[in-house]
Amino acid sequence: MLKISATGKALAESPKKYTRFVITEEPASSHRFIENADGTTTYKTGAGKWDKVDARSFRTLVRSLVQAAKGHEIEAFALELHLADFPLLASYGESWFMSTISENLTLATYEFTLYKSKAKKKLLRDILLCGVKSTEGKAGFERGTVVADYMNRARDIANTPGCDLSPTKLGEAAKDLMKGTKVSVKVLGEKEIARLKMNALLAVGQGTRSETKFIIAEYWGAGKTSKVKPIVLVGKGITYDTGGLNVKPSGFMHDMHMDMSGGSAVLAALAAAAKLGVKKNIIALVPTAENAISDTAMRAGDIVTAMNGTTVEILHTDAEGRMVLADALTYSERYSPRAIIDVATLTGAALVALGQHASAVMTKDSELESTLRTLGEESGDLVWPLPLWDEYKQHLKSHRADISNIATNFSRFGGSIEGGTFLAHFAPKDVPWAHLDIAPRMDSIPSDKLAKGSTGEPVRLLVKFLEQY
Ligand code: BES
Ligand code: MN
Ligand code: ZN
Repeated sequence: MLKISATGKALAESPKKYTRFVITEEPASSHRFIENADGTTTYKTGAGKWDKVDARSFRTLVRSLVQAAKGHEIEAFALELHLADFPLLASYGESWFMSTISENLTLATYEFTLYKSKAKKKLLRDILLCGVKSTEGKAGFERGTVVADYMNRARDIANTPGCDLSPTKLGEAAKDLMKGTKVSVKVLGEKEIARLKMNALLAVGQGTRSETKFIIAEYWGAGKTSKVKPIVLVGKGITYDTGGLNVKPSGFMHDMHMDMSGGSAVLAALAAAAKLGVKKNIIALVPTAENAISDTAMRAGDIVTAMNGTTVEILHTDAEGRMVLADALTYSERYSPRAIIDVATLTGAALVALGQHASAVMTKDSELESTLRTLGEESGDLVWPLPLWDEYKQHLKSHRADISNIATNFSRFGGSIEGGTFLAHFAPKDVPWAHLDIAPRMDSIPSDKLAKGSTGEPVRLLVKFLEQY
């Protein structure tokens, strides 16, 4: 476990066990160790010109310090950073600055070691941030550690292999995640799901012995009896996606244990918001199933009636995420929500469109879109818009049912938008709704300076949204 703490004291006063990290304006590649006369060690590393450091490069800078500490097998380091040194960050304020530091230190330290039989000897265990004097700065620092701790827990859940994380286990993980918060969790089984007529969700899970579940997490931070409408988060919880009978080719299946990343992210964001005492009503819904292959699996060509009465022609069994989300979106209606955000590793096409640097956001509400883009930039969980124009609806016009789950001509063009368009059919009307296709950010890339595997995104963005919307 990482110990991360803040102190008002100066770096020079930190205990000797801490290697003192000092940032200079030298090029980012330069670094050196200095053994001081008093027995302490200083590690100097370049960050380039400070007046060029923006929010994005600042987060990377903070993470690179952790990467350097790991590389040099340093077990404890201390550092001191001041907002006043970075003019491009001034407008964000002290709380954001300290929160961003503690968040990114915590995220970069994370490693997924559960399945390593031999533990590393020298682990980074202790980080001390010096010179944190203002109440605002201290509060920001605390907030950042809470958010990143829950984000790391979302990563743990997402990184767990499919053999050890069934829908039942995901339900248990949700309950575990909410311990120590005021969030209540209910997990519905197949009987209850059938009673609710969520047949699109059931169809996806019908090919496996693992029971399909529907996770409902409620947080009444503004009071249940108050007339404050809740924000509803919906997360895709496919614990393993083989593709179903339209099986995925090799090379495209092995990381599909992370196909519940949207689910773990919305749960972690809710847990963090509750822990931070956000005074709002927030609901997280996670339809969770395994998309398996067997003689009982849904077939391409099957037609099911979704919870809202829409008949769905399953033209492709690998387009399963939108089916489970469809019924969850219908279910969300009973809360008369203020806003709905769904989060899903929905399409490979989102990676084709954006690469691996941002998630796609789709919404017809321009205000919601701009809020999410701004908070994405502020938090580091970047999102970029794709359109949800009516033109795309015709692609899903089924010959045999009300709607088909992929384009009826099997075209892959605009695949992410077609996913969003399918969901739009089920989202409650007249409620601001946004769909985040997080497939691009499911798995980390080297430039993230994070452990390989789940990024935990967009927990930071969602927490900000819950705090501010
Ligand atoms: N879970 C996948 C999408 C995915 C792909 C997430 C790569 C992360 C990385 C989703 O269920 C899926 O299989 N989508 C299909 C949709 C297609 C059949 C219309 C896809 O992207 O190929
Ligand atoms: Mn799929
Ligand atoms: Zn999937």
